[in-house]
Amino acid sequence: MNREDFPMLDGNLIYFDNGATTLKPNQVIDSMTDYYSKYCANAHRGDYSNSLKVDNMYEGVREKIKKFINAKEKSEIVFTSGATDGLNRVVFGYFKKHLKAGDEVLLTVSEHASNILPWFVLAKEIGIKIKYIPLDCHHEVVLENVEKMLSDKTKVISLAYVNNVVGDIRPIRDIVELAHQRGILVVGDGAQSISHIKTDVTQDDIDFFVASAHKFYGPTGIGFLYGKFDLLDDMDPVSYGGGMNAIYMSDGYMELREVPTRFEAGTQNIAGVIGMGEAIDYLDKIGIKNIIKHEHELKEYLVSKLKKIDNIILYNEDTAGSIVAFNVKDIFSQDVAIYLDKYNICVRSGNHCAKILNKAFNVENTCRISLCFYNTYEEIDKFIEIISNIGNIWNEIL
Ligand code: ALA
Repeated sequence: MNREDFPMLDGNLIYFDNGATTLKPNQVIDSMTDYYSKYCANAHRGDYSNSLKVDNMYEGVREKIKKFINAKEKSEIVFTSGATDGLNRVVFGYFKKHLKAGDEVLLTVSEHASNILPWFVLAKEIGIKIKYIPLDCHHEVVLENVEKMLSDKTKVISLAYVNNVVGDIRPIRDIVELAHQRGILVVGDGAQSISHIKTDVTQDDIDFFVASAHKFYGPTGIGFLYGKFDLLDDMDPVSYGGGMNAIYMSDGYMELREVPTRFEAGTQNIAGVIGMGEAIDYLDKIGIKNIIKHEHELKEYLVSKLKKIDNIILYNEDTAGSIVAFNVKDIFSQDVAIYLDKYNICVRSGNHCAKILNKAFNVENTCRISLCFYNTYEEIDKFIEIISNIGNIWNEIL
């Protein structure tokens, strides 16, 4: 679908690494070039027309994100540099001040490093305890296992909506319901879900939600944090400077601006914000329902083809997301990726920033295909032909 919108797809590239970053449509690229070449100015700083135009564009994107994820207020959207930044702000800006020694945080071993390492630091700093929700036999999160892990000390559950290694879609709405009955807050990492499933933070009743634009056809270095207004109002900034303060005095007195401005210190990534807004318009134009349908059909097709090849080990054929994790028997995953690259096929290999999942997986590294709407059946056929001939690998990559 819509391949003509992507300059990177002009030639014979087969791009199956959309979980790492998606390619960018012309609409996004052009919007950023236009900003730099036609109306470049800072935001919220000037009183001349280009600057006012930038103010409107910048705040307009906040409104677009609000609508896209169905937040109640546009002030609940904070621009960040991406999902990692968003998670760090939540952990160090909110939970550092609200948790105490002995409080428990539930994660899984399959979370991305960005949803584990900040909690490790908090555990060291204030003595919170991290517990891992056991994964089921398909490496998925099921409600029953979440419930088993709850105790009087559980204060937070922090999970990806969709995992980046096996692609399981977590039952977030049910988890939030369970959590809220016990006064537990839930943080949702939307990095791998936002361009693949519908996001509705109000229906989900999620407390915090983060995403990166580069995973939804937007630029790198920009993303957003959603938080319920009262939670954001009770969160500390992790960065201080221009634009976010209302007043300060030589004796150290300061008053901060309102939410979300107080979280956006210094000149922001304005071109990134504009590009992110275009990416949202672009996704809206294609329609999430069409995306879900196409990706689901492609995944089924790919899995059915891979299952017919003897030396392929599949790790997640039953998960609902558009990720396929596999290995080729007796060949190191990175060698497989290098072999595929000879044919212009991009896949990711390794541990995918989830370095403690391998214990549950029983394998150190995997190859990962992460599909998206511009992938085609023809690309899958080509990939299947190449991977079926992997017996030649040592002639080709040595
Ligand atoms: N988190 C990204 C991935 O899964 C980089 O590839």
